[in-house]
Amino acid sequence: MLILLTGGAGYIGSHTCLELIRRGHEIVVLDNLSNSSRESLRRVQEITGHTIALHVGDLADPEVVREIFSTRRIDAVIHFAGLKSVSESLRNPLKYYQTNLGSTLALLQQMESYGIKKLVFSSSATVYGDPCGLPSKEDSPIGIALSNPYGRTKSMIEQILQDAAFADPLLSIAALRYFNPIGAHESGRIGEDPKQEPNNLFPYISQVAIGLRPKVSVFGGNYPTIDGTGVRDYIHVMDLAEGHAAALEYLKPGFDAYNLGSGCGASVLEVIAAFSRVSKSAIPYDIVAERPGDVAASYADVSKASRDLKWTTSRSLEVACRDAWAWQSANPTGYVDNG
Ligand code: NAD
Ligand code: WQD
Repeated sequence: MLILLTGGAGYIGSHTCLELIRRGHEIVVLDNLSNSSRESLRRVQEITGHTIALHVGDLADPEVVREIFSTRRIDAVIHFAGLKSVSESLRNPLKYYQTNLGSTLALLQQMESYGIKKLVFSSSATVYGDPCGLPSKEDSPIGIALSNPYGRTKSMIEQILQDAAFADPLLSIAALRYFNPIGAHESGRIGEDPKQEPNNLFPYISQVAIGLRPKVSVFGGNYPTIDGTGVRDYIHVMDLAEGHAAALEYLKPGFDAYNLGSGCGASVLEVIAAFSRVSKSAIPYDIVAERPGDVAASYADVSKASRDLKWTTSRSLEVACRDAWAWQSANPTGYVDNG
């Protein structure tokens, strides 16, 4: 297939590019580089030996998308592009609604005009909010009492996609609800490169391990979990990339949502201990107040993805730590200054 990846230069997109090329697909990337750089794709090219067509532009600009759809026979779109910071979305909600909803609507309109019927969308476990039961299942209610605008954009987009699929029986859409993506490609050549202070635990730990930050603040020590710290379902980014390829190759008419996670939870202290072991670095931490909006625990029921997509994760938390450390130690400041 010839696949358009919106936001394909970013963290998850660049790893997915690698996996799609490995499976023999052809890819085109559209990215405005607002949270990424050309360097990620240059390195994917270096690893795979394949050239990637990169269109630098904004997905919300119909001209940019038209240019791609009118000159290439795109079979399917994987839609990663969007803003993803929970904290920024609380400070600047309109920017999040504008970018995430606006660009998705613009994409859907262009797909309709050019008769492109296959779409895989980056959703998030955040749509479950504070889960009423664990593990979270795809038929659990979503969009209820979400704590931030970012999460609401994901839930709203899922609703839009369901409506679009209902109206056009030829549309095949999969919304992939990622749990907590971590790690890097095993080469250590590509990985997560936050442009600002990381919000997420894993890149924060990596930066402490390499000495860029003094210590990790552990948000909350009194949750009803194994050691009082928050529990999440961490998924290696290459397992996630394989999940995209599996979803794309499986797509059926209609709308379907799939949890992509490992199905297991790990606490913040367990993650810190694993990273410290693998990187042989001390990772100082303090337990501080809970972060507003956080839930005690979240992990996936992955039986639907396993049944339909024939996909499960194969990489452990240790492997994710090893690969993240390979990336972080070879690229202490990310893609910048590392050629
Ligand atoms: P990322 O920021 O690394 O990648 C997103 C890419 O989209 C970036 O390269 C950015 O430059 C690009 N982009 C943003 N707005 C754009 C626009 N209007 N037009 C064109 N390009 C645009 O983020 P990521 O971690 O790779 O996440 C990819 C997707 O997965 C996002 O939709 C995110 O919300 C979702 N997601 C991420 C996580 C996570 O923890 N990383 C978890 C759940 C869901
Ligand atoms: C994980 C655990 C924190 C940072 C968010 C979004 C979700 C998805 C993934 C994007 C929690 C604790 C964190 C730190 C800590 N994002 N923590 N100290 O909150 O599960 O999910 O990212 O698309 O939508 O909500 O991930 O990595 O921020 O936190 O103690 O400095 O680590 O409290 O228990 P989260 P996270």
